[in-house]
Amino acid sequence: RIDFDKETGIGPADREGAFDPAERRLMEDLQGNILKSHGRGHSRHLFVRFDSADSADATRRDRGRAWLADMADRVTTAMKQWDDSRRRAALFAAAGFGPLGVSVGLRFADGPRLTLDAQAGLFGGSVGAGLGGALFGGTAGSGSDRGGARPDPDGGHDGDGGGRLVDPEALLEAELARNPSDVFVNLMLSASGYRALGFTRLPADEAFVRGSRDAATLTKLCDPPVEQWHRGFRESLHALVIVADDDPERVQRTAEEIRADLLAARAGRVVHEEAGKVLRLRPNGPAREHFGFADGVSEPHFLAKDVERAKKEEGHSVWHPGGPLSLVLAKDPGGDAETGYGSFVVYRKLEQDVPHFDAQRLRLARALAEADGRAEPHEGDKELAGAYMVGRFRNGTPVNLPATAAGVDAPIPNDFDFSGDQDGLKCPYQAHTRKTNPRGDTVWRFGGTLEEERRRRIARRGISYEGDGTVGLLFLCAQADIAEQFEFMQDRWCNDVDFVAGGVDGKPSTGQDPVVGVGSAQTPTHWPRKHGVAGEKVTVSLAESVTLRGAEYFFVPSRSFLRGAR
Ligand code: HEM
Repeated sequence: RIDFDKETGIGPADREGAFDPAERRLMEDLQGNILKSHGRGHSRHLFVRFDSADSADATRRDRGRAWLADMADRVTTAMKQWDDSRRRAALFAAAGFGPLGVSVGLRFADGPRLTLDAQAGLFGGSVGAGLGGALFGGTAGSGSDRGGARPDPDGGHDGDGGGRLVDPEALLEAELARNPSDVFVNLMLSASGYRALGFTRLPADEAFVRGSRDAATLTKLCDPPVEQWHRGFRESLHALVIVADDDPERVQRTAEEIRADLLAARAGRVVHEEAGKVLRLRPNGPAREHFGFADGVSEPHFLAKDVERAKKEEGHSVWHPGGPLSLVLAKDPGGDAETGYGSFVVYRKLEQDVPHFDAQRLRLARALAEADGRAEPHEGDKELAGAYMVGRFRNGTPVNLPATAAGVDAPIPNDFDFSGDQDGLKCPYQAHTRKTNPRGDTVWRFGGTLEEERRRRIARRGISYEGDGTVGLLFLCAQADIAEQFEFMQDRWCNDVDFVAGGVDGKPSTGQDPVVGVGSAQTPTHWPRKHGVAGEKVTVSLAESVTLRGAEYFFVPSRSFLRGAR
């Protein structure tokens, strides 16, 4: 029996151990990218509409279902995601690498080629591709692997180990030759998708059934009206296929195959597409988002191996990095009675206006400088202003922690809470990361339990995009309950100007989240005048820099559901 409520994760705590039989059956029926990010550097999002939506014709409906059944063999299961990453880890350990892209700076370039990158000055310069036959003494053996703090671009490519490098290109090519179709694939359905195919038992979640276009949802989240969304999102979307790999050409090829299969099956059409790309703070470094901040740092981990790694690298004296399966898994009503689980996914295309964000950051920096009796802000004011807005400096260091002397390769700190900063003098209450993960603030403020608060966490699986002269985040998050997790976070925390300490004991409003809060940008917002020093605060309201361009709610069904859909 699997315990869905324990926070220590499932599966072996290392790569060598085995999943127990019940865990294995669950992982074989569950799609990947839920318990751990697929981590690939490039992705394509194919939005599908089934032909049967506009007709009562049962043949069309059956064709749509037959396509789902065919896709059962194409989606990447959680088990396959694990096995793939394990195989690659073994391969690279044999080749002498430590954590890929960390110890020796090996990384996937734009394709199945390898580049030796001089991260942290290890080799004093970029060595470039084409290592055939080279021999390096690896600095490997740290035993850690990428993930969380260190962008885990890769559920699939993390590795432990040490030794000596032999010939990475040849090894990798041999590996790819053995796995020509190793491209990562996810398939998910919206409530309108289930209906279009005539399914009557929908996954049980009221927000999911209502959908992101529903008037009540739009009002609750302060979302712009659907007419203002990008054209591709205006009509409801039935299914989303995510194709991901480190090689954009392989992504493209697989996306074309899936599109052609859908047409050949006469089941429906790809009516909209998005392309995602992971950005980096520096080559091999942490992922970042377009405003320039390290992203993908703080995540609940669900696999024992990831929980153990996070504990070892980041510590766990204050903040437990694990999350129970019940945080992300929900029963799939159409799947196998024992093993059928899936997850609800919130998809939001969030456009980021970078110059506008920088202007807000500068306004805050000026106000901080003025309060200090200086006419112009210096770099330190600008960095601090950004860190106040996000809750972390651009390199990921939390604004409430003392700066550390750790090197660029050190894990980004995540073992902290705000108990030493109840007055919001170091990390303002409204900072994005404090709004979205109050780490115990709700306990002293509202008297709930930490466990209740931690039930609101989401598993972020988004990726950046750029195109058409705009940039932003294809925000995706997985959870067991949309209303209690994502919607609560956006509505009651990010958008609420009094969360967490406003309006109590005569305290003024704290303002909305300066990164993703919407609806109340004019509310006077207070910022610590001097970092960590009690006293008067600086009051500046910041305008919004992120705009919703489209949204849909999905459920990622089990493989047993897909198989039986025909
Ligand atoms: C953390 C940026 C949208 C929830 C972060 C971090 C950054 C960031 C820089 C800190 C690094 C990290 O822990 O990964 C952005 C940007 C967004 C966006 C630029 C939009 C364009 C959202 C939305 C939500 C959200 C819509 C949910 C309502 C979170 C959560 C964390 C986080 C839960 C982790 C907090 C923690 O555990 O400490 N985001 N974010 N983000 N964000 Fe966002």
